Amino acid sequence: MIPDPKKQTEEAARPSLWQDYHKGMDVESIILSFKNHMKYTMAKDHYTSTSWDQFYSMSRALMDRLIERWIATQQTYYNTDAKRIYYLSLEFLIGRLLGNNLINLMIMDKARAALHRMSLDIEDIRRVEVDAGLGNGGLGRLAACFLDSMATLELPGYGYGIRYEFGIFRQIIRNGFQVEIPDEWLRFGNPWEIPRPESSFEVCFGGTVENRPTRTSTVNPVWVHANTVLGVPYDTPIAGYKNNTVNTLRLWSARSSEEFDLEIFNDGDYVAAVENKNLSEVISKVLYPNDNIFSGKELRFKQEYFFVSCSLQDIVRRFKKQHGNHFERFPSKVAVQLNDTHPALGIAELMRILIDTERVPYDKAWEITQETFAYTNHTLLPEALEKWPVPLFEKILPRHLQIIYEINRRFMRDVASRFLNDRNKLANLSLIEEGGEKQVRMAHLAVVGSHSVNGVAALHTELLKSHVLRDFYEYSPEKFNNKTNGITQRRWLLKANPGLASLISDHIGTSWTTNLDDLRKLEPFADNPDFQKAFFDVKRRNKEVLCKIIADETRISITPDAIFDIQVKRIHEYKRQLLFALGIIIQYMRLKKNPGIDLYPRVYICGGKSAPGYQMAKLIIKLINSIGEVVNVDPLVNGKIKVVFLPNYRVSTAEKIFPAADVSEQISTAGMEASGTGNMKFAMNGALTIGTLDGANIEIREEVGAENFFLFGKTVEELAEMRGRGYNPWDYYHANRDIREALDLLDSDFFCNGQARLFRPIYDSLLTWGDHYCHLADIEDYLAAQDRIDQTYRDQAKWARMAILNVARMGKFSSDRTIHQYAEEIWGAKRIPVTILNAD
Ligand code: IMP
Repeated sequence: MIPDPKKQTEEAARPSLWQDYHKGMDVESIILSFKNHMKYTMAKDHYTSTSWDQFYSMSRALMDRLIERWIATQQTYYNTDAKRIYYLSLEFLIGRLLGNNLINLMIMDKARAALHRMSLDIEDIRRVEVDAGLGNGGLGRLAACFLDSMATLELPGYGYGIRYEFGIFRQIIRNGFQVEIPDEWLRFGNPWEIPRPESSFEVCFGGTVENRPTRTSTVNPVWVHANTVLGVPYDTPIAGYKNNTVNTLRLWSARSSEEFDLEIFNDGDYVAAVENKNLSEVISKVLYPNDNIFSGKELRFKQEYFFVSCSLQDIVRRFKKQHGNHFERFPSKVAVQLNDTHPALGIAELMRILIDTERVPYDKAWEITQETFAYTNHTLLPEALEKWPVPLFEKILPRHLQIIYEINRRFMRDVASRFLNDRNKLANLSLIEEGGEKQVRMAHLAVVGSHSVNGVAALHTELLKSHVLRDFYEYSPEKFNNKTNGITQRRWLLKANPGLASLISDHIGTSWTTNLDDLRKLEPFADNPDFQKAFFDVKRRNKEVLCKIIADETRISITPDAIFDIQVKRIHEYKRQLLFALGIIIQYMRLKKNPGIDLYPRVYICGGKSAPGYQMAKLIIKLINSIGEVVNVDPLVNGKIKVVFLPNYRVSTAEKIFPAADVSEQISTAGMEASGTGNMKFAMNGALTIGTLDGANIEIREEVGAENFFLFGKTVEELAEMRGRGYNPWDYYHANRDIREALDLLDSDFFCNGQARLFRPIYDSLLTWGDHYCHLADIEDYLAAQDRIDQTYRDQAKWARMAILNVARMGKFSSDRTIHQYAEEIWGAKRIPVTILNAD
């Protein structure tokens, strides 16, 4: 048969058309791809498509463009036999991905143009995306920033965690109180994930350990488990910025390992069989909404083991694929970073896999484990330290308990020999806490099983060494190091604040997007009136955007002419939202007493979620709302002060808040905030910090210069000395009329709106119960710093200079710097650039 020349040319043309659909970065290809997904993925046409369909189609068009690089990246890791970095974290607070992926693939403008050609607005479409809220706060968002930096630095990084069906709850404010609504983020589907049920693993729980004889004289412990659950991985691509790297975030979802419990099924109780299935699937249902609080729930323990076991089985599987049973090579090919102690069970799990499954001798297994793991501590608060009761361990992970006891036995033997049997040292260092119900101290397991222990800011690391982990520091000082946290400038400046990003790039070029130290080139512009004006113009536009959000969400009308003074973060007593609230009450009282007082107009904005069971934090939310209800409508105030509680603070609203801030409140009690990362996001967007010498505030102040930072409050040492003398908050109450009147007003029914004595627990915590977080000891100094802010803001040129210098000196706080240090000093990881050789 003679070939039809027309058909031949069509066929020849097809591959390139096919390629364009999926890979083309030009406007035409993006339009084709979008339409293709609208029709063939969503099965929608212009009669039926919703904004969700548009978001989904655009995201899938982007996924196509990521997949090419994703596969190439993963193949490159195999082909180069790269050392892989596994970041184990119970939280990844990703937020939205569409804008982030468009930026990292460098096609934001093309996508905007493509959508515009179809009469669609990219901003409308981006707003449709639901936040992936799989985290509580700083720890989870840090993990997300780290993924971005690892991919941008071309490091072979993986995130491993849980695919919670319900992320952090949605907060609504009803009658001034927080109400929690389940976060059904997956209800309409998730365009960014690919399920891989074929790569599932079984996870075992319960049962007993039997000692089975071997052919030699020894016995083999065998874990005869009671139940199994399946972990199904869902993969999300993590694109690097301006490169070909696409790493993987692998999140595990729990599935019943057997479709039905056969026994029950045979008994004829079909419904009970299905109910049992749900019992195992509950493991990945919901994120525990506690930040810096250990709740000790059995389901949480199961979550921790579930994701750790799946992840380690997967890591060992990947290692064996290239290296077979040569486990002596394991630490040179695998680094596991523990994001807090939540995945610390991984240490016992790797030991179990190596000893029980792979038959590696104990000593060798221990050496491999220690060389592989590294632990990041995230908190100094005693109530946040994880301790699991031994009986719970015995019930759920009997083999792991046995292994932990053996680790401890050997460790105690070494400690005894080093410290001549010092009983105190043994008790302090033991993995097991005695007295009352025995408990396994997870931080101790993490330290002993790792070759590196790091804090997340200089002060935090010093306090770990001198207090929380002092005896461990004495025992193995070489393990301890500091890795000051950072944030990715791609999300928190380039994406969140396009106005400022353009202004910067117009003056110093774009190199700051991958080398944040280059922001220093802005310094010469700090006094330039034109630049200052442009800087204020950007800030004003960002403030207008926030005004609109606040009006929509709260019906409170505010003016961008005012100073935007903002505290957004989880609500916690140690973060001292109460200090913020007392400061507002005192300003309000001053205004009431003297309406002519010259106060620069200010909008106080607070946002953040409380753990649902944390009554004091919930009452603080109510207090701030109540203050707003009184102040915002008081004609005497005349709009000089406005108080806003912005509900449901999350990553996507944070991206609107930081760029609009003038003042960043970082006012935790010194020695209590490990690092903070919100402080960095504010400063990078040109807000000035009012802050204590706590966490990374100290390093921020060092970088930006003391003259560009509003410092107040007692230092760690001063607080310790004060507590040593016996801190009595009543002294401050009696000595300072402002404090006294503010507290009396708080305790009166003034803000209560009829609910008598509503805020008595707050009054009591500050006076009767000793003010554990030292609000009253710091408040006078805080108010003085607030007065300095009021005065400084009036000198717009001075303020602009200070704010611009803050931006210019933020280089240190890029998560690229942090990750570079982890890679060099802890992981021994190398850059693996990815080239796309064959377009197919
Ligand atoms: P995993 O890392 O084993 O989960 O595999 C992820 C991806 O790596 C696969 O989808 C492949 O694209 C790639 N890959 C897996 N095995 C090999 C190999 O042996 N050589 C090169 N690439 C591989």
